[in-house]
Amino acid sequence: MAQLDAGDITQAVIDRMADCADERFKTVMTALVRHAHAFVREVEPSEAEWIGAIEFLTATGKQCDDKRQEFILPSDTLGISMLVVALNQLKAARALSAAGAPTPTEATVQGPFYWEGSPERELGADIGAGMPGEPAYYSGRVTDTRGRPVANCVMDVWSGDGEGFYDMQKGPDAGMALRAQFRTDKDGNYRFWSIKPTFYPVPGDGPVGSMLARMGRHLNRPGHMHMMLKAPGHERLVTHIFVKDSPYLDSDAVFGVRNSLVVRFDAHPPGTAPDGRVLTTPYHTAEYDFRLVPEALAA
Ligand SMILES: [Fe+2]
Repeated sequence: MAQLDAGDITQAVIDRMADCADERFKTVMTALVRHAHAFVREVEPSEAEWIGAIEFLTATGKQCDDKRQEFILPSDTLGISMLVVALNQLKAARALSAAGAPTPTEATVQGPFYWEGSPERELGADIGAGMPGEPAYYSGRVTDTRGRPVANCVMDVWSGDGEGFYDMQKGPDAGMALRAQFRTDKDGNYRFWSIKPTFYPVPGDGPVGSMLARMGRHLNRPGHMHMMLKAPGHERLVTHIFVKDSPYLDSDAVFGVRNSLVVRFDAHPPGTAPDGRVLTTPYHTAEYDFRLVPEALAA
């Protein structure tokens, strides 16, 4: 008999995958069916509510284009992106600890504003000139978990401006701004100028903004500079450094704050900066060292 009811439909859907040859995919889809059915059993949505959920997903997809990624926002704002990052970090930490290696720099969410292919700039370049915001000098060192310098590490950096807006939010014709790639020198050192990022809201004018408003939540993320570090022979690291005196460190809308990534931005009056540059306006300095996981240890 083909008739199924609420008691046996879940197992029937799972059994229908008997011929699935991809074991990992089968495992994932089995768990998805099990948990999705359990969710429906718990919530008991009306048919109108369920259509509402499908319309939400449809609207979320329609909001996406080559510059706007709305679909990452439910994942980020419901803590799922960070849960994925945290579980992978935990797995890596266990492997490293078994190998007797020190802990690496913590990862956090990539977020919706990564734009591949930003220009490569010389170490020390200023990517914040002419943008709203107070100048900030970023410097530090990239090593592996044993403290050996990682030379030629590509650091892809990006942030919003001093008013909380990313280049991608400034209209369809806006070009790249406040993003670049740097390479560490032979001793693993990096340095560049940008602005001190401010807190900003995740995009609130789409379906995810409406969802958060209905949940009674604010949209804000504390100020942060995004960083993606790539070096041959090392695991890629996607992380941020967070501004220590920023609002919302305790209630990041995407749950991405890690204590180890919160960095002091020291304020300075106009004068000579650590790299010899003379500034006629106040500026900030932020120092942070990164520790990458050698691929051999991650295996
Ligand atoms: Fe961001």
